[in-house]
Formats: sequence, C-alpha cells, structure tokens
Amino acid sequence: MAPVLSDNVILSATEKDATIADRNTHATRIAGKGADPEKKALFASVTKRIDYTPKFGTELHGVRLTQLTDQQAEELAAFIAERGVVFFRDQDDLDTKEHVRLGARWGPLHVHPLVPHNQENPEIIVLDSRLTPANRYNTNNYWHSDVSFEPAPSSFSILKFDEIPDAGGDTVWSDAYQLYDSLSQPIKNLLEGLTATHSSDIFKIIQANTGRKTFGKLNDSSHPVVRTNPVTGWKAIFTNSVFTREIDGLSPSESKWILDYLNDLTSKRLEFQVRFKWAKHSVAIWDNRSSHHSAVPDFKPYNRRGFRVTVSGEVPFYDPNSGTQAQAFEATANAIIARQEAEEKSKGNSTLQLA
Ligand SMILES: [Fe+2]
Repeated sequence: MAPVLSDNVILSATEKDATIADRNTHATRIAGKGADPEKKALFASVTKRIDYTPKFGTELHGVRLTQLTDQQAEELAAFIAERGVVFFRDQDDLDTKEHVRLGARWGPLHVHPLVPHNQENPEIIVLDSRLTPANRYNTNNYWHSDVSFEPAPSSFSILKFDEIPDAGGDTVWSDAYQLYDSLSQPIKNLLEGLTATHSSDIFKIIQANTGRKTFGKLNDSSHPVVRTNPVTGWKAIFTNSVFTREIDGLSPSESKWILDYLNDLTSKRLEFQVRFKWAKHSVAIWDNRSSHHSAVPDFKPYNRRGFRVTVSGEVPFYDPNSGTQAQAFEATANAIIARQEAEEKSKGNSTLQLA
C-alpha cells in the first residue's frame, strides 16, 4: 500500500512519523473558562442566532472564524461548551492553515494514532469515505465522543467538508448533559464516582485488517462515568458506544447493562439530538466532553471528504459539587420570565397613568 495518496493524505506511518502521536498532551489552560457570561464581544459580530433546540446546538451567522479576536475566541469556546455544538456557514477562508490556527487557540492539537492525516499537517485528520473501513469498523457511523480512549481526550473538534453528497451524509449530535439530567437520582447516585475504561481496540482491529502502521501508541484510559465540564461546571455522562469497553469494578453483565442503557438513551432520545445538513464551507465545532455524535451512513455510492482538527482537553475529572445544565437552564428561564412579567407590569402602570 502506498503510504501517501496523490491528494496529500498519509495512510500509514513511515519510520519517521511512527511515534508522532506519542507526543499528544493535555491542555494546561481551560479555553473559555472565565469568559464573559454574556459573550458581548462574540455577539457583537453575530447577525443571526438559530438555536436548534432549547438547550443544544446553535447556528451562528455573521462570525468569521478566521477573524476572531482573542476575546471572541474565548467566548466562542465557552459558548460551544454551553450549547454542545455550534454551526457556521460560508467559512470559505478557513483553509488548512487557518483550521490548524483556530484549533491551536484552544489547546494542544491531537495527532490521531491511526486515522489518515494530511502529510504536512498531521493535526488534520482526513475523513474520506473512500478510505474508511467497512461499515462495522467505521467508528464515524456509531455514537461516540472523539478519541475518548486517550488519557486527555478531546475538548473541541472542528470539522469541515470539501466534498459532500447532494443529499445525505448528515451528522447527528446528542447532548450528554441532558442524558445525565434525564436519569433518576438513584441511578445518578450509582454512576457518580464510577470510572470506565475506554479502549482503542477498534483501531487495533482496523490496523490488523489493513496492515496500516500507526503514528503512535493506541491507548486505553480510565475516565469518570459522570464528568464535569470544566467550562460550564455541569455534569455529563462520559461513556460512548465505540470506545467505552467496561465500567470499572462491575461484573461484565452489570457493566454491559448500564452502558447499553446509556447508549440507548443517546441514540433514541430525540430531544437530546440535533442533525446538521452540511454544505460546502460549513463548519461544525463541538465539545466532546459533554456530547456524542454519529455520521449518517446513507450516501454510498457517493463520497464525502472532510477535515477535522481535534483539540486535546484536560485530564477528565468529576467534581461532586458540580452544577447541571438543567439547573442553569431553569435559572435562565426563570430570569427571562420574571423580566417579561416586570415589563408587562410596567407597561400596565404606564397605561394606567395615561388613562
Ligand atoms: Fe467523531
């Protein structure tokens, strides 16, 4: 197999790059933490905001990702952590160099140990349907959170496609904050404090089947089942159907029962989900710490090719004193309702005075 394709994609490591993924590290700074809660600098550029659901997924118009000030980049990181996934259209100037530059503003960039990448920029993985393995081994087509098998999994992923089918090839995201909030208190009590082992077994199988050489170690890591998002301070479920092998300390059948149940909620609860229809120059950026996603594999024999920059996050942690999205949402909604009622009342008073 030729390691490099004509369009500058490297499939298999050579001696020179066989350990580059071993240099992956964790973020030493939490991008977005402490940003202006109102995000005034970011929203000064926004011409239109479309919330896909009340709690999850937003499309922003008017923002040029290549032109963000440092303050706007921080506020955007915080906004993505809150909304889970944020979409942008018409980002035609987000080329390879700018794609890398945007990710690097938020943390160290992850080099994938197996997925094909751009030869000059190993931080850019190439998601080309021509290069992906048979469906069973195509991790993109099952619910997951990017590279959760790493000791410091991804905080943010930034994805852009340059080739999309005329129809199909959408991506669906599911909100892991709502997944946590939907559980009963006894089940929350059971899960909080547990850890689960995330493994890169699937890539070991792909490696064995394809003979591709890896760009570094294929890691396994143990992470909290309930994870605190360090930006929002909210609890989310951090297990997924592709990489989570088992919940530590439980019997195999207990572990399978719980993981299957959580995966089932992720895939079936429609109110947790948003679906995005890609167009040329569209960009999606999501928070892997508190969401899951899956491609929709409906477009064969057409092809799809995208480029992803993956930002490494902090080592996952669980803080029992964390808040929740449900609490924050309720507090915001109550404040809005109280303000509306006050406005109505003051309108009534002024009408009375006029009379
Ligand atoms: Fe992914």
